[in-house]
Amino acid sequence: MENLKGKTAVITGAASGIGRSLAAKACGEGMNVVLADVEQAPLAQLQEELARSGARAISVLTDVAQPQAIEALARKTLEAFGGVDLLFNNAGVGAGSTIWESTLNDWTWVMGVNLWGVIHGIRTFVPIMLEQNRPAHIVNTASIAGLTRGHHSASYAVTKHAVVALTEQLAVELERINAQIKASVLCPSWVRTRINESGRNRPESLRNQAEAPPTAEMLKRWEQLRDVMKNATPPVAIAEAVFDEGIRQGRLYIIPHKETAQYIRNRFDAIMKDI
Ligand SMILES: NC(=O)c1ccc[n+]([C@@H]2O[C@H](COP(=O)([O-])OP(=O)(O)OC[C@H]3O[C@@H](n4cnc5c(N)ncnc54)[C@H](O)[C@@H]3O)[C@@H](O)[C@H]2O)c1
Repeated sequence: MENLKGKTAVITGAASGIGRSLAAKACGEGMNVVLADVEQAPLAQLQEELARSGARAISVLTDVAQPQAIEALARKTLEAFGGVDLLFNNAGVGAGSTIWESTLNDWTWVMGVNLWGVIHGIRTFVPIMLEQNRPAHIVNTASIAGLTRGHHSASYAVTKHAVVALTEQLAVELERINAQIKASVLCPSWVRTRINESGRNRPESLRNQAEAPPTAEMLKRWEQLRDVMKNATPPVAIAEAVFDEGIRQGRLYIIPHKETAQYIRNRFDAIMKDI
């Protein structure tokens, strides 16, 4: 897609980090924006900020894990702007550790937001986009963890691999019917956001009952993560890559950190070795 002015972008997880930068970038392109997030105060604050700068922005409090919430998001988008041209299924969280040490609540929460959130977004918005019968683009946020092996959180890795698979499947399905909709999957490495504080938005019903005190190893790891975050890529650079490589060039895979190529190659080498 080339000329975005006057078109409409829907962004989930818009109140922070990568989503916030995607929203600012879409406004900079002259688009109308629909900001969706579970975190009410920063969501309202961003909407006010963008509106003050002259953008046409609405905010919709949305839990992406709930299909009815995504349906309401679509209805409000159509009421406000009459259509949708870009959809960013971006909301995501991280929790838990190994497959067996992660609790059922860890699994349920992470699968709900990272995987079901993207499925609900696609199931709700693709029929609307098909009906519009004009160019549109969907960008799903996965992670480099969706293309490689061995992330420290099992549920995070599983959901991100699933988002890569979902997007590949979506691209094929859309191509088969000659739809004017394109799909891309965003797979960044470390980005300076609040992803390490995901627990702030965890629903009460999915909190772990008795959280064991952190082990020395966990404390060391958290410290390392804080250091990694300090030097991580600013989210504005990720938004630039999404609009350039994804929306404008139409690439299926948006991999902003080119140095991660070796990790992706290692996974495929391991697969090929066993053929
Ligand atoms: N930061 C990184 O290093 C990194 C790397 C690769 C991929 N990602 C992915 O980028 C995406 C954005 O994360 P971020 O790094 O900007 O983190 P962030 O925590 O700064 O932003 C995530 C946003 O999602 C929102 N959110 C959480 N649960 C939600 C729900 N149920 N419904 C709607 N919104 C919800 C949060 O309130 C927050 O505003 C995620 O999918 C994450 O997995 C991040």
